[in-house]
Amino acid sequence: MPSGSDRGGSSAGAAATPPRIRVVDLTMAYGDFVIQRDLNFSVARGEIFIIMGGSGCGKSTLLRHLIGLIRPARGDVLFDEQTFWGADDEQRQLMTRRFGVLYQSGALWSSMTLAENIGLPLGEFTELTPGQIRELAALKLSLVGLGGFEDFYPSEISGGMQKRAGLARAMALDPDILFLDEPSAGLDPVSSRLLDDLILELRSSLDCTVVAVTHELASIFTIADNSVYLNAETRTMLAQGNPRTLLAESKDPKIHAFLTRGGQESGDAPAGSPSGRAAGGRTTGART
Ligand SMILES: Nc1ncnc2c1ncn2[C@@H]1O[C@H](COP(=O)(O)OP(=O)(O)OP(=O)(O)O)[C@@H](O)[C@H]1O
Ligand SMILES: [Mg+2]
Repeated sequence: MPSGSDRGGSSAGAAATPPRIRVVDLTMAYGDFVIQRDLNFSVARGEIFIIMGGSGCGKSTLLRHLIGLIRPARGDVLFDEQTFWGADDEQRQLMTRRFGVLYQSGALWSSMTLAENIGLPLGEFTELTPGQIRELAALKLSLVGLGGFEDFYPSEISGGMQKRAGLARAMALDPDILFLDEPSAGLDPVSSRLLDDLILELRSSLDCTVVAVTHELASIFTIADNSVYLNAETRTMLAQGNPRTLLAESKDPKIHAFLTRGGQESGDAPAGSPSGRAAGGRTTGART
């Protein structure tokens, strides 16, 4: 169970309004195989919330539960205090329409241009004309710094640009909540840092809530307001809170080890220091 001192990393005003997302007694399983049990945590409105933990602990599985792809073995996920798994199919569909998702594989359709990739959900879920869809796709691409790349194919742009295009697609329907699975995986440290900046910028300008899976320390310390740590061995959460607070206050050796890993992954912060890239003048995005 998470200790009391590991809680409360979110901004002060957050407690006054109901959480955007509330995970209640969630147990996740594939068949009889329990991945994580008894998860309880909240994501405040406008927060950047990070799902942390070692490889295979169930981060992507948790994300799939949050976006309604997998039904919990037990427990529920509440959006604005409204039950997701207790709702009927129609209500659930309405709720998922407010989500934008960037999957871990991140795949854009290789046979489609960037504008067509981003136009796909618009064509499916809106009554917009092809001209309007193209205009909106161009606007979304410009938001992620890809204005002018509408007619490029994914293979013609860099990995970092593909991630940004994936982000533009996730934002196509103006989601209230963005779910990102390892958005900076496979990127060099500079591209990864630019993507972090973009996520912070989008959160402020679009006023959305972001839930991201990442194990990259530099990202975690740069963008997170709040987080949850999933432990693979005990198959439950160890802590929730701002990662900097967790690093400073958590007595748990696992949390400490995770948040002070140094050097083994490119772009990670130096061991024992949350400063890493932030030392270069970047701060954990205070909300405006
Ligand atoms: N569709 C599935 N059916 C059965 N087991 C699965 C399925 N997907 C994942 N698992 C198992 O669930 C566990 C958690 O997987 P998950 O992909 O959620 O981990 P993760 O924390 O996202 O890992 P990574 O950091 O490597 O992305 C793993 O043991 C995995 O083998
Ligand atoms: Mg994963």
